[in-house]
Amino acid sequence: MDAFEMPTEMRCIEISEPGGPEVLTEARRAVPVPGHGEILIEVAYAGVNRPDALQRAGAYKAPLGASDLPGLECSGRVAALGPGVTGWSVGDQVCALLPGGGYAEFATCPAEHALPVPVGVDLKSAACLPETCFTVWSNVVMRGGLKAGERFLVHGGSSGIGTTAIQIAKALGARVFTTAGSPEKCAACEELGATAINYKTGDFVDVLRAEGGANLVLDMVGGSYIARNIKAMADDARMVFIAFLESPKAEINFAQVMLRRLTITGSTLRPQSDAAKAEIARQLLGQVWPMVSAGKLRVIHDSTFPLAEAAAAHARMESSQHIGKIVMEVKGG
Ligand SMILES: NC(=O)c1ccc[n+]([C@@H]2O[C@H](COP(=O)([O-])OP(=O)(O)OC[C@H]3O[C@@H](n4cnc5c(N)ncnc54)[C@H](OP(=O)(O)O)[C@@H]3O)[C@@H](O)[C@H]2O)c1
Repeated sequence: MDAFEMPTEMRCIEISEPGGPEVLTEARRAVPVPGHGEILIEVAYAGVNRPDALQRAGAYKAPLGASDLPGLECSGRVAALGPGVTGWSVGDQVCALLPGGGYAEFATCPAEHALPVPVGVDLKSAACLPETCFTVWSNVVMRGGLKAGERFLVHGGSSGIGTTAIQIAKALGARVFTTAGSPEKCAACEELGATAINYKTGDFVDVLRAEGGANLVLDMVGGSYIARNIKAMADDARMVFIAFLESPKAEINFAQVMLRRLTITGSTLRPQSDAAKAEIARQLLGQVWPMVSAGKLRVIHDSTFPLAEAAAAHARMESSQHIGKIVMEVKGG
């Protein structure tokens, strides 16, 4: 489509009210107009992430000024440039971290939060890269300081985040340990190079302690895992929280944190400043995109749904049966 053929309306998926997957409703809206420093993307594929399900349920509000439509990442082509944008041209293939609004035929984002589609990657896989790569790189490397030779423990290894974290950590030269909830999920994690522990039959604390302890833990579970993570950590280790699927609350003996010089931190990506996200994007382009093009980091695809079946995509995610990423085909989907 050329700029002069730009439609004024688009198909999208709205959250009609907080609730289950059935509240995701197909609607028509005006095509958004890119503001200063923003690009408009004609969306080909939109990645589905657990935070989308939290937003749908009313537990994760869109930040001020962001689209109320769900969708934190997409791939496609640049359809228009807002004032002041340099470095992109109409027609360029991109994948982008979005402040929201990815479940739609068109979405806007700051130009600096978009990245070129890595060499050798198709648009379907490219749509699955931004949210997990931004989250994993910023928490595992920028915040967690993972180094070659360290022992890295990531929970939920078969998740979108987990499969990305395993591969990035391996590519950096770390030894990777992970937990997952079934033999099939463990096998998928082992294939990516991790030592996988089925948490229903094994104890990650025993495995990590036998190896000398984890130097870095990436946790999305919380609750009962917090005290166990501390037991599994080596002296001077770091623990980074990115979610609390079980609970954000726990009773902890903080003497261990003091005596063993542990660091406990965490972050969420969405509320961070545009400048902070742009810095993560720059580091991804320099350090992670070459891993992708070299085949060291690949998207593990679970399933693909047409945009009209967003509810089914969310139901699949919340079944927790998936391994890797769920994606929606938007153009023609
Ligand atoms: N902080 C951030 O900026 C940020 C950004 C993106 C995502 N996240 C978070 O990171 C996590 C992974 O995201 P994702 O998109 O990769 O989601 P996902 O694929 O659905 O991953 C969640 C996985 O966690 C495991 N799990 C462990 N304990 C669980 C529990 N109590 N309830 C449900 N699942 C549990 C499940 O696998 P098992 O069968 O092995 O249990 C499930 O596959 C989510 O919690 C998400 O909210 C945080």
